[in-house]
Amino acid sequence: MCGIIGILSNKEVSSTIIDVLKKLEYRGYDSAGIATIFDNEIRRQRAKGKIENLVNLISENDLPGTIGIGHTRWATHGIPSEDNAHPHHVGSVVGVHNGIIENFREIKEELINKGYKFQSDTDTEVIIQLCSHYINNGYNNRDAFFKTIGRLEGAFALCFMFKNDEEKLYVTRRSAPLVIGYGKKDVFVGSDAVSLSNLIESVIFLDEDDVAILSKKQTNIYDKLGERVDRKKKSVDLNSDIISKGNYQHFMLKEIHEQPEVFGYATSSFINFKTHKIEMLNEIKELDNVDRLIFVACGTAYFACAVAKFWFEKYVKVPVEIDVASEFRYRDTSFSKNEYAIFVSQSGETADTLAALRKVKGKVKKTISVVNVVESSIARESEFVLPIKAGPEIGVASTKAFTAQLAVLACLAINFSNKRGLISKKENSELIDELVSVPGIMSNIIKKTSIYKEFARKLMKAKNALFLGRGILYPLALEAALKLKEISYIHAEGYPSGELKHGPIALVDKKMPVICFAPVNNLFEKTISNVQEVQARNGKVLLITDDEGASRLNSSEISMIKLPKFSNFISPIIYAIPSQLIAYYTALYKGTDIDKPRNLAKSVTVE
Ligand code: G6P
Repeated sequence: MCGIIGILSNKEVSSTIIDVLKKLEYRGYDSAGIATIFDNEIRRQRAKGKIENLVNLISENDLPGTIGIGHTRWATHGIPSEDNAHPHHVGSVVGVHNGIIENFREIKEELINKGYKFQSDTDTEVIIQLCSHYINNGYNNRDAFFKTIGRLEGAFALCFMFKNDEEKLYVTRRSAPLVIGYGKKDVFVGSDAVSLSNLIESVIFLDEDDVAILSKKQTNIYDKLGERVDRKKKSVDLNSDIISKGNYQHFMLKEIHEQPEVFGYATSSFINFKTHKIEMLNEIKELDNVDRLIFVACGTAYFACAVAKFWFEKYVKVPVEIDVASEFRYRDTSFSKNEYAIFVSQSGETADTLAALRKVKGKVKKTISVVNVVESSIARESEFVLPIKAGPEIGVASTKAFTAQLAVLACLAINFSNKRGLISKKENSELIDELVSVPGIMSNIIKKTSIYKEFARKLMKAKNALFLGRGILYPLALEAALKLKEISYIHAEGYPSGELKHGPIALVDKKMPVICFAPVNNLFEKTISNVQEVQARNGKVLLITDDEGASRLNSSEISMIKLPKFSNFISPIIYAIPSQLIAYYTALYKGTDIDKPRNLAKSVTVE
């Protein structure tokens, strides 16, 4: 994921920018660049590949200036190249960006129609062109910046400079990280505080949608309505983990909030935004003769496979088997050379998943791994690797890795469907658009904290809880139950709603909360009959539905979380967010050790 740095100083800034860019390398990148302002001129150098290439350029062409911005780019829209590298510069505006702009096509078309010419394939240039357009129309820098942000949808962190405003950095963030750091005399902006740690004494973690206009002497922060707000400065204590948790009380909460950004990156590394196609596993061309797809994983990764089964059956139309690795490795199973086996693991080190991979190697056509850690054993031993690029996940209970696994598996289903010639151009485009819309939807529903807290207050006193879902949301009921039991220690079970009357209904009484996932789809009425069965037995129903579901039900006895309307295809990805937040706040109220729940390990490297 891209990294951002900005510096306001009394000294030349380019070498410090390079130092920080090196610290941001861990986020992954394929090009880097720097811009400064000197003598009322924007100076810029960009290079494809390693930061060393940029260093060589700067040693040949000096980059003077006491104000500057820098960027490590991890390609999403457009190939890694100098033209696509940041900073992007149009007219008097120069800026860097981390994140994905969902509505960039629409804005780009508008600007092209007005006669603007683009130099890159990036969504970032669209932002800079738009800001420059407002300046051409008489807006001052501040108003142009606000007006530009007002048009953007998606997840983004921005740091801009303006040629005629040499003393200021303009920054903002939405569902992407950005901090302001203060040294003895200098002011910094960065994607994380860790990369600035040797330069700063205190830090401000910006809230969602904050806009900051920074000079060496003044920090002015505004909310999205343009109202001045105060954000507390925190002193930097290198021994404290506040640096990596930012403003969040727990890593788990931070990782939940990272999901819009992580999901955007996970999908966009496979979406070719020019051709509107998913490009992955180009080595696999022939899928006509495929007999079966086998998905194997443990824990949360297994539930990602359970969701994927729905996608692959629907769009790829092949038999799909899913199994937990500890069972799969010891079962007598027949394999054929017309099968692909897919292993999903955040750590890439889970002993059972690794053993399952070793079991099938050479017996199936090819093995594919979907991992977060690309240097892991599972990645090294599988024939093809699909990275989810979620960044380090510290909370033991998996959150962002789950939705990033879903991102990659959804892309793979669309890709395989195309390779089998089963999907029309229109449907392909619609599914990709739906994936692109996910970060925006996630950002909106993550913010509705009070409703998750209200649910959590109802759940915290329970000893048992039941999660119900149907169809593609059944695996989410399993995952939500796992999240709750892992961190709050409340016994929870996930069930397909239709199975309620075959057992779990015996447990329903007034002490039993039943959390039901009920979007309006072809199974809505059936799910609601299950809800009524619970109500008839005095069970406490907590319903997660959409606006239409809520108005169709219109019951004051049911506590509801209302989500916006979205398609069935992306619904398991979106429903992950309330599932995680309900578990998180329940555990918070119970006072459990959320990031390190008792008896659990992040990476299970023993059988
Ligand atoms: C442990 C973790 C879970 C994780 C599972 C599989 O149980 O606590 O969060 O889902 O292992 O781990 P993996 O690294 O293979 O995804």
